[in-house]
Amino acid sequence: MTNLEKYHTLLSPAFQWGVSSSAYQIEGAVTQDGRGQSIWDIFSHTRGNTLNNETGDIACDHYYRYSQDVNLMKTLGVTHYRFSVSWPRILPQGRREAHVKGLAFYDRLVDTLLENRITPVVTLYHWDLPWALQEKGGWQNRDTADAFADYAALMVSFLGDRVKQWITHNEPWCTAYLGHLSGEHAPGIQEAQAAVDASHYVLVSHALATMAMRAMRTDLNIGITLNLSPVYPQDTSQESHKAARWQDIFNNRWFLDPLFIGQYPEELSEILGAQPPASAQDMEIIRQPLDFLGINYYSAQVVTAPSDGQVPWPVVHIKSTDRVSAMGWPVIPQGLTKLLVDLQNHYPNLPPVIITENGAAYNDIVEDGKVHDTDRILYLSDHIDALANALAQGVNVQGYYLWSLMDNFEWAWGYSKRFGIVYVDYRTQERILKDSFLWYRQLIQSVLSPKTPD
Ligand code: FCB
Repeated sequence: MTNLEKYHTLLSPAFQWGVSSSAYQIEGAVTQDGRGQSIWDIFSHTRGNTLNNETGDIACDHYYRYSQDVNLMKTLGVTHYRFSVSWPRILPQGRREAHVKGLAFYDRLVDTLLENRITPVVTLYHWDLPWALQEKGGWQNRDTADAFADYAALMVSFLGDRVKQWITHNEPWCTAYLGHLSGEHAPGIQEAQAAVDASHYVLVSHALATMAMRAMRTDLNIGITLNLSPVYPQDTSQESHKAARWQDIFNNRWFLDPLFIGQYPEELSEILGAQPPASAQDMEIIRQPLDFLGINYYSAQVVTAPSDGQVPWPVVHIKSTDRVSAMGWPVIPQGLTKLLVDLQNHYPNLPPVIITENGAAYNDIVEDGKVHDTDRILYLSDHIDALANALAQGVNVQGYYLWSLMDNFEWAWGYSKRFGIVYVDYRTQERILKDSFLWYRQLIQSVLSPKTPD
């Protein structure tokens, strides 16, 4: 069977073919129309935090060029577009007074998408916490969870008539760990207790927001997006197996277990050296049923324990393949199949899954106005195939969103890492379609076009 025949057989006609983005990475216009500052404005403007001290001040200028970008999506033929709302554009102080001009931007964006028959999918939090809330403790303060639920309800009151698919948080692991323990991301804190407190209040905020949104409308699909990565032990030794189990808890189960079992993994506090401030009541609301689970998949991990001790922490990451992206991440497409099948076996109440991000950075070169990104095409086709293999094993996957429509501000890496299928010339803001764009367009077209009779 060719890949195309396989997709025709396995994918439902309602399968979502999309692209993903996030506000701070593409919008720019950070001081326009009354937008408040976010933790990423402060973090990226602090010297030494991002490569070449780059910031999202201008990014892809999408705030002004959104209609051109929606046109690109129309040309691409995607059925869905996942973007995030910048919380401080709506609520410059994080709560209370909503900013009309900020709301108007998303109103225009949603209407333009719908006019072009592209279904909008909104992420409420993709890491740009209003700075005003950070000054009061940010995600380490439980009040932020209440503020988030109010903001979620506000967005539903505003867009809920047209936007039906909502994601509360993008990758809480990054908010907790990169933001509060390694400090590579905003707000740049490096403290274990801060990380587990933040992780817990993010989950509480997810639950409160979900309840508030459901109380307002019954026709919404609500989920959360986790970055997950399967872990393989390097060899059959006991140490490698223990290292893999610990790494799995740290990467994946830290968030999966509370959401789908209602408790944190037992060894979590031993691994992180801190205890989440969880009450039984919190755990009860955190595990409420979801309409879907969003998964961002980029790579898998092969690990072993350090040679000098018994305790497998930190574990040692081993590159298991010569195929690596420009991020240095090993390319392991079969990890996606394993991840999905394992999840389904491990969590009986797993909701339908949507791959909300998948893609790769490569060192793209523009030649005669073209970008021949064959590595990226291979990465994407291998991963879509791995997804189909999971479907063949009975996993309910409802969509695939490529990261990302266009090159953008890649957080601590600034503009050095290009994930787009559209090349952005940051000096002129010119958009150049890469070969992968044409490839993805062709794929979507052939999968969506009616099957040819035998
Ligand atoms: C994910 C983020 C996204 C982007 C990709 C490359 O972790 O959700 O914003 O940076 O990685």
